[in-house]
Amino acid sequence: MDRLGITGYLAAEGFEAQLERELERDRIRKRHGRLILADGPARPAAWAANIWRDPLIIEFESISQAAAALRAIQRNWAIYPHRLHRRASLIQEKLPHVGGKPLQFPAPLPKAPLGSWMMLDANRLLAAAHCSSAFANGALEFIENKSAPPNRAYLKLWEALTLAGRMPQPGELCLDLGASPGGWSWVLQSLGARVIAIDRAPLDPEIAALSGICYRAVSAFALEPQSVGPVDWLCSDIVCYPAKLLELVKRWLESGMARNFVCTIKFQGETDHTSAAAFAAIPGSRLMHLHHNKHELTWIRLAA
Ligand SMILES: C[S@@+](CC[C@H](N)C(=O)[O-])C[C@H]1O[C@@H](n2cnc3c(N)ncnc32)[C@H](O)[C@@H]1O
Repeated sequence: MDRLGITGYLAAEGFEAQLERELERDRIRKRHGRLILADGPARPAAWAANIWRDPLIIEFESISQAAAALRAIQRNWAIYPHRLHRRASLIQEKLPHVGGKPLQFPAPLPKAPLGSWMMLDANRLLAAAHCSSAFANGALEFIENKSAPPNRAYLKLWEALTLAGRMPQPGELCLDLGASPGGWSWVLQSLGARVIAIDRAPLDPEIAALSGICYRAVSAFALEPQSVGPVDWLCSDIVCYPAKLLELVKRWLESGMARNFVCTIKFQGETDHTSAAAFAAIPGSRLMHLHHNKHELTWIRLAA
């Protein structure tokens, strides 16, 4: 086995260019499909669906030998299927079956480490036991609710809260900015939180009728934190330029009026890497591309 002194960054599907741009600071050594291998230890990378820490190369003669080498390192492995699909699946079949079932929200993150591996050629594989995501190739799937929420946006908030490892608690106050038609408000209300929903467009009538949801038809940018008062969660899914959202977030951070933040940064046309980097640089926060994000990133900052 050879240790390589590199890190593997698996790009979120369709966002390889954004990840390459983000990794410009490191020397990119090679690309295998969506997996970019770059020099040095793992660093945060928002456009990576999964980060392979300290991958190594395993040489093998037979399928059984390959599976045994992986099992000798740890129990759970997910394959990144990129080449030699038949041989790769024969190896994966010899490894313990790993859950992979959709989660029923709310659920804690799986605790067991999940490694990732891929075939390099017929007799060599690349494997990383320590990966950033507890889900195969970073894909967190849920058992969907196809009747209650008015759209599929709720899946982003389910995913963000699951990865954050913290949920709004019953009775906590949440500000939902850009709330219409109400998927996020529905999530927050279903957790027992109280919701102030802000949007100039109306909420779906069934969401508006739920107890604990108070709708205000105003612009989120016109709200003064001091006039709203302290909130436990500030959630934003507003369609707006990233720089405008950054100003809003900074205003709320400076006011000290919001304890936890979950915000979608939406890109129209070109990715605004400068604003993304400014979000990533906010102390104590995380910036990531969720499995349910489109051309968006999700920024999370939790109270200490
Ligand atoms: C993607 S939708 C939000 C979906 C919502 N999170 C859900 O789960 O149903 C974006 C929303 O941002 C709202 N929006 C745009 N500019 C806004 C502003 N200045 N203030 C409040 N909402 C705004 C739009 O009206 C739109 O409803």
